[in-house]
Amino acid sequence: MNRIQIILDDITCLSVDVIVNAANESLLGGGGVDGAIHRAAGHELLAECRTLKGCPTGQAKITLGYQLPARFVIHTVGPIWRGGAAGEAGLLASCYRCSMELAIGQGLATLAFPSISCGVYGYPLAQAAEIAVSTVAQVLSGNDQIRKVYLVCFNAEVFAAYTRALGLLSPTG
Ligand code: APR
Repeated sequence: MNRIQIILDDITCLSVDVIVNAANESLLGGGGVDGAIHRAAGHELLAECRTLKGCPTGQAKITLGYQLPARFVIHTVGPIWRGGAAGEAGLLASCYRCSMELAIGQGLATLAFPSISCGVYGYPLAQAAEIAVSTVAQVLSGNDQIRKVYLVCFNAEVFAAYTRALGLLSPTG
């Protein structure tokens, strides 16, 4: 799937149509990539997020990118890892699917995802990477508007896990 690219980078620096934020249900900012995106976008992002009145886990909402190089930000809320029997896998897949559907609806062509739920939310890296890669590939197989999806890793361990997951994706995937 050559429209998926794994990169080691800071998502706030990417000049793509839209970057995805790993937010919490309040959409009012936090640490990790959420904090980095809000810092880079400036205070107008939080002002717009306040109008969205939150976002349930597994769903996604879109805002402008303000001071970011990206035109838009899609805020999605990943599941907190609770051992795997609380529907976490379906909710994480839903984050990727809803975010891509929002981007498609907005007519966008290039997206960048962080490794959703793999930080504070504690999702096991190999499982999260497999869900990310397979869900993105599944949506791409039915859509030719999206030209590129970057899966942005912030450290070597995450990069290795995502690269393995992409390598395991069946050629028809
Ligand atoms: N660019 C790309 N990836 C980043 C960046 C960045 N600038 N900063 C952090 N990351 C990576 C982390 O290393 C991790 O692999 O993003 C991944 C997701 O980690 P978190 O940001 O902790 O997100 P998550 O695990 O989904 O937890 C979400 O954390 O920051 C709060 O408000 C947020 O409550 C929410 C929770």
